[in-house]
Amino acid sequence: MTLVADIRRGTAVVGVVGLGYVGLTNAIAFAEAGFRVVGLDVEPSRVARIGRGESHLEHVPHRDVARQVTAGRLTATTDFSVVAELDCILICVPTPVRHEGPVPQPDLCHVKAAAELIQPLLRRGSLIVLESTTYAGCTEEVLQPILERGGLLAGRDFLLGYAPERVDPGNARFAPAGITRVVSGCGALCREAIETLYAKVFSTVETVSSIRAAEMCKLFENTFRWVNIGLVNELKMLCDRLGIDVWEVVAAAATKPFGFMPFQPGPGVGGHCIPVDPYYLAWNARQLGLEARFVSAAGSVNDRMPEYVVQRTAEALRAGGGQLAGARLLVVGVAYKRDIDDIRESPAVTVMRMLHDRHALVDYHDPHVPELAEHLVGRYAVKSVPLSPEAIRSYDAVLILVDHSDIDWADLITHAALVVDTRNVTAQLTASPTYHGPHIVKA
Ligand SMILES: NC(=O)c1ccc[n+]([C@@H]2O[C@H](COP(=O)([O-])OP(=O)(O)OC[C@H]3O[C@@H](n4cnc5c(N)ncnc54)[C@H](O)[C@@H]3O)[C@@H](O)[C@H]2O)c1
Repeated sequence: MTLVADIRRGTAVVGVVGLGYVGLTNAIAFAEAGFRVVGLDVEPSRVARIGRGESHLEHVPHRDVARQVTAGRLTATTDFSVVAELDCILICVPTPVRHEGPVPQPDLCHVKAAAELIQPLLRRGSLIVLESTTYAGCTEEVLQPILERGGLLAGRDFLLGYAPERVDPGNARFAPAGITRVVSGCGALCREAIETLYAKVFSTVETVSSIRAAEMCKLFENTFRWVNIGLVNELKMLCDRLGIDVWEVVAAAATKPFGFMPFQPGPGVGGHCIPVDPYYLAWNARQLGLEARFVSAAGSVNDRMPEYVVQRTAEALRAGGGQLAGARLLVVGVAYKRDIDDIRESPAVTVMRMLHDRHALVDYHDPHVPELAEHLVGRYAVKSVPLSPEAIRSYDAVLILVDHSDIDWADLITHAALVVDTRNVTAQLTASPTYHGPHIVKA
């Protein structure tokens, strides 16, 4: 087949639809592997920035984009007529949930819209790969019928596959090309093409027998995290009542060389994946009249955590003779996890909104997030405040919600009146028996 030969030679042209966290990372990885890459997005400002050799994402350096643009390997456009020139198309659009009814529902509007834009120009012999996370069956039940509308059949006239993305933005330990990719396709030809393509870019490729198995693999990975984070968050609340340090327990349990994997508690679960993907698995179950009980159990714990942080803060203030209403509070870290600028589904934002609702006066500091829009946090848009000893001393309490590595925690704690620590960053600083800093509440 000529496509496989073109992929092997590196002459196949690769399109990436959706240039966000996943798409831009992929576009760079495929361009670095030598492919000519065309990025497609519906957002003109993103496309324009990439065209100028700039990155719109903190964890993708400008120089990585600039190098590929200057070398002529990466271009970006909003004009889907280029689809006619593409040999392989990777679809990396969002797959959120809609919060309607009693349980969140898969929202496939972006996948459908991308498929509608590709379909009229779909070329015989080309390969389409869905990378967006979705429920088992979605590629064949939702994407394939739209792509086949013009009469071309998947597996016969064009190739169709699924390759769930595993990138971990902000995690410098795992470069995208070093992460094993799970792939599959509809039929042997599709599997051969997708495996050949991904093997050119990623060090290891694991091909599974069906697209559904690949879709379920991604859901299982993220549901595994969701459930285990729920478990450790539940343990934290229990340990708090028992006067036990949950982080000490987790660290001690992690010394077991088999059968245990440590997960850390926190103020809730954020990001576009972990709090979302398990609801795609739950949807699969509901279609069969089944219930994904671990998903809902973990959800009921994880979704409660922001309220738990607020409650612990209120208790700590009361213990010192104060109260939440009117208290001046500094939230440190609003991204959904350390060392990134992504605030999607961030529990810290939820905590801020809850504190506003209870009439606390809330500022925040986050070196990665300079500003928060009004609709996110309640009454007014807010900017990250600079940290100085005087500024820190002016708050009734400091709430540590994200453990960014570029914050001077020792300095922060030294000047704080009261610390509510949801990430255990204070553990080492306060380990000394001579510690004389502020009162620290783990939450
Ligand atoms: N962010 C992650 O860390 C991560 C990791 C693994 C998997 N995923 C999955 O990858 C998918 C993409 O996530 P993301 O974080 O990159 O999303 P994102 O919101 O950062 O980026 C999506 C991009 O798609 C564009 N887009 C939307 N509709 C489009 C359309 N019809 N045509 C072309 N472009 C369109 C948007 O403008 C945006 O630039 C999701 O399914 C997500 O669950 C994300």
